[in-house]
Amino acid sequence: MLFSDEENTIQIAPDAYLLKGFLLRHSNTLLPALAEVIKASPLRHMATPNGYQMSVAMTNSGEWGWVTDQQGYRYSKRDPVTNLLWPAMPSIFRQLAVSAAKTAGFEDFEPDACLINRYAVGSKLSLHQDKDEADFSHPIVSFSLGLPAIFDFGGNTREAPKIAISLEHGDVIVWGGRSRLNFHGIRTIKAGQHPLLGPYRFNLTFRRSQA
Ligand code: SIN
Ligand code: FE2
Repeated sequence: MLFSDEENTIQIAPDAYLLKGFLLRHSNTLLPALAEVIKASPLRHMATPNGYQMSVAMTNSGEWGWVTDQQGYRYSKRDPVTNLLWPAMPSIFRQLAVSAAKTAGFEDFEPDACLINRYAVGSKLSLHQDKDEADFSHPIVSFSLGLPAIFDFGGNTREAPKIAISLEHGDVIVWGGRSRLNFHGIRTIKAGQHPLLGPYRFNLTFRRSQA
């Protein structure tokens, strides 16, 4: 190993860490598991409550899945497209998410939801807070795969100063505690080709949605 885990763990805010390259050795198990999930519950462009279609395509794995439609944002046990339960969270997803949370100081993270976001070139995710979960004492664990992106990470008001973090294939961000409700977003994805994932960025966001 070139660097120790400590050197790859970079604090970005109180209780928020970038784990640089954390997933790099696991692409060969993560990517087939990701493909299986997408086969069972296909990626789709959901509508926001005010009627816009999201540029990011989404699906979920785990007991609960995050959905949005005219009725609002919420967690659902069923995929509204297939009407089936969401595919189970692959054990490699869970293991790596729990281990990333531990590395960032969150000992007992047990995710019950894994949202999968696929960004095509030109797509973005506007500044928002993750606040559809029952208990904000649990952190968010976020995996980056494929094309690079700029992640804006702010404070707990929309106006608070932001830092811009470059996220590459294999990086993980964990935020919780004092940063749990920080605003964040992904800037427009630039054209490119990733050797494993082509013209896409995938983000896997692990959360504890229920109390
Ligand atoms: C999100 O905020 O839900 C996704 C962030 C990302 O794509 O890295
Ligand atoms: Fe988010």
